[in-house]
Amino acid sequence: MKLCILMGSPRREGNTAALLGPFLEECEALGLETRTVWLYDKKIAPCLGCGSCQDCLDGLGCVQEDDFQEVFRAMADCDVIVPATPVYAFFCTAPMKALLDRAIYAGVKNYGREKGPKLLEGKRLAAIATCGYPPEQGAGLWEEGLKRFCRHGGLEYMGIFCRRDWGKQEPFMNGEREQAVRDFAQAIRMSLQGAEL
Ligand SMILES: Cc1cc2nc3c(=O)[nH]c(=O)nc-3n(C[C@H](O)[C@H](O)[C@H](O)COP(=O)(O)O)c2cc1C
Repeated sequence: MKLCILMGSPRREGNTAALLGPFLEECEALGLETRTVWLYDKKIAPCLGCGSCQDCLDGLGCVQEDDFQEVFRAMADCDVIVPATPVYAFFCTAPMKALLDRAIYAGVKNYGREKGPKLLEGKRLAAIATCGYPPEQGAGLWEEGLKRFCRHGGLEYMGIFCRRDWGKQEPFMNGEREQAVRDFAQAIRMSLQGAEL
């Protein structure tokens, strides 16, 4: 079982990365294969809305040639997609948004001359997020967006792990958070085990 982590934080030593560390350690301990893609290292231009992708039914068919194709292949080649992002303006960071825009359009052939496949259909999605407001307020819209992304693309939404950044008031990481994000990895493993039976 393979997880593809889409890391959407620009800060390599930031809060989202601090959650990702123990999450990845736990995945390894549980025998889950992981691949992490740092989206700020990739060139993923915003979708142009040209619609060319809609008449290409046997591939992505995107006219823009950049790192999108490679990142999408990593998403298509896993069992669970894990977007990990700080909340920016009540949604995700810009590279994550560009990726999701292009994935939901080129990856779902609903609007061309004839309907075609949903290229991520059947995959699961579990998210990791950090935000400044209490999680329901800070990450609520982002979670709702992910749920709708899953519904539209035929993916199964597994849930979100989100913790609040209290700023300078207190350190972001503590023992409870480390354990809780490890538990999140375990819950993903359990749910995958259930699917294997
Ligand atoms: C540009 C910017 C926009 C932000 N917008 C929001 C927001 O809309 N809602 C929120 O709850 N937190 C917001 N935050 C706070 C971050 O989500 C929070 O500090 C996060 O933990 C940073 O993660 P990082 O260390 O991985 O970058 C914003 C932070 C920045 C820098």
